[in-house]
Amino acid sequence: MTTPLIIDTDPGVDDAFALALAVASPEVDLIGVTTVFGNVSPELTTRNALRLLALLGREDVPVAAGAARPLVHPQPHVSRAHGGDGLSGHADTLPEPTRGPDDRDAVTLLKDLLEAADSPVTVVPIGPLTNIALLLAAHPHLKERIARLVIMGGGVRGGNITAVAEFNLWSDPEAARRVLVEEDVPVTLVPMDLTRRCAVSAAWLAELAGTSAVGAKLVGLTPDYLATYRRFLGWDGMALHDAVAVAEAVRPGLLEVRRHPVDVECAFGPGRGGLLVDERLEHQGSGVDIAVDADLDGLRAFILDRLSALGVRQ
Ligand code: RIB
Ligand code: CA
Repeated sequence: MTTPLIIDTDPGVDDAFALALAVASPEVDLIGVTTVFGNVSPELTTRNALRLLALLGREDVPVAAGAARPLVHPQPHVSRAHGGDGLSGHADTLPEPTRGPDDRDAVTLLKDLLEAADSPVTVVPIGPLTNIALLLAAHPHLKERIARLVIMGGGVRGGNITAVAEFNLWSDPEAARRVLVEEDVPVTLVPMDLTRRCAVSAAWLAELAGTSAVGAKLVGLTPDYLATYRRFLGWDGMALHDAVAVAEAVRPGLLEVRRHPVDVECAFGPGRGGLLVDERLEHQGSGVDIAVDADLDGLRAFILDRLSALGVRQ
C-alpha cells in the first residue's frame, strides 16, 4: 500500500531534488504540493514547483500557493544560496507548465486532501513552517488525518543562516514553535546536522546528470547552490537537505532518531530562530523524533538510484 504524501516547499534547489525523489518513489503517492515563501518569493516558489512537476511528468499533482510571509514578524532577509530565481538562475531551463496553481490556497488544499485521503497522510514540510502552523490552527481536527510530519529544519549544534539558526526555522520561528512545541502531531525532525553530513559530491551529481534528460535538468539547476556549498562544506559538494527528509518519508526508519523535547527561540536577539534540544535523561520519551544518524553512503546511493530511474519511468 502506498503512503499518501504532501510536500510543503519553497523551491529551492534541494527542494527540487526532494520533489523528484518523491515522484521517483513508488512507496509514496504524491497527492499534493503546497508552496510557501522562503528561499525566494512565494510567486517564484510556486512557479518553480509548477515547472518542476512539469519536468517530472506530474502535472496531475495540484500545486497551491500558501503563506507569503511569516506568522508574526517579517522575514529579515533571504539567503542567496539558491540564486535569484530559486534555481540557480536556471528555472527557465525547465518546461513551461501547462496549468497554473490550484484555485485553492495552500491551507485549503491541505485541508481538502487530508479529509479526502483513504488513510492518514504523511506531510513533508521542507521550507518555513507557516502553512503548517496555519493549517493546525484553523483545522485542529485534521491532526488525526496526519500520519506524521517529516520536517527538514533546525540545527542542533549550530545554524546556517545565523550562528545558531537554520534557515527554515529562522524564517518563521513562531510558526516553528507552534508546530514543534505547541501542537501534538507526530513529528520526525531532520536537522541540518544530519543533512549536511549527507551532502553529495560533484561526482555524484555528474553521475546523475548522465542517467537521463531529467537527471541532467536537475543537475543543471545546481551551479549557484553548489558554489555556495563548496564554501560552506570546504569540499566540492552540496547538501540535499530536503531530499533527506523525503527519503525518510519514503522509507520510514531510514534515519536513526532520538526523541527529545525541543523548543524554538522566538525572542529577538542573537538566538532567534534557534532550535533548543533538551537531552537531559529525565525527559526521555517526550518531544519529537530527531534524526541523528544514517548510513550516509547508503542514503546517497538510495537517492541516486531513485533519481536515476526518473528518465526511464517518464
Ligand atoms: O536550511 C536548509 C533549508 O533551507 C532547506 O529547506 C533549503 O531549501 C532552505 O529552504
Ligand atoms: Ca526548502
